[in-house]
Amino acid sequence: MSQPILIAVDGPVSAGKSSLCDALAKELDILHLDTGAMYRAIGLYAIESGISPEDGDALDRVIKEQKAVVSVEYRDGRQLTLLNGMDVTGMLRGEAVGAAASSVSRFPSVRRYLVSVQQRLAREKSLLIDGRDIGTVVLPDAKVKIFLTASPEARALRRYTQLLSSGVRADYQQVLTDLLARDEQDQNRACDPLRPAEDAVILDTSSLSFQESLSEMLRIVKARYAISA
Ligand code: DC
Repeated sequence: MSQPILIAVDGPVSAGKSSLCDALAKELDILHLDTGAMYRAIGLYAIESGISPEDGDALDRVIKEQKAVVSVEYRDGRQLTLLNGMDVTGMLRGEAVGAAASSVSRFPSVRRYLVSVQQRLAREKSLLIDGRDIGTVVLPDAKVKIFLTASPEARALRRYTQLLSSGVRADYQQVLTDLLARDEQDQNRACDPLRPAEDAVILDTSSLSFQESLSEMLRIVKARYAISA
């Protein structure tokens, strides 16, 4: 493929974005940028340095003074997320870091900083970028925008099954409650809330298998880029 490809995928928590985007990027032979990991890196910084993820003034200073520099590298096609030059990829997936990420992502200084890093990366290479504001803010001109969603119950069930299979004890009702709280925070923040871009294709995967969702995403991309199968 000669023309650079930029694909924006947005959607709520546990919509399957990460795994579907990994698989889709592989199919298309391009890199996948998981922007949630970048917000999680800032959340991790807040936790580790004793700053409340709710403290917007302190976070403004952190960003202004470049105390939490986030970058990404790729090794064997997989994203490594770096915080102040240190690979923190393995420290980002826990619930506490996820909750901190959701809080810090409300603040305009944090968003402006990470959006600028993401846009710089997108000027350098073909990318499939997933997040919450990719189609609306990071890549408003992307040729392909997909808004991946599923019912809260379907997403909570996936998350619950995922936790159990990784050996974490979980309670379905609690998972659902946490997920609804996260949706509420992501959709109702004043700065760049989660919403589909006007020109996004909305893909509801509630009743689709992983393979069916992937095939559908591939079909949308190929139609837009006129790539033959
Ligand atoms: O996709 P995730 O769960 O790893 O994202 C963690 C948090 O970061 C999520 O609550 C919302 C926020 N986020 C965001 O505001 N904008 C993005 N582009 C990506 C994530």
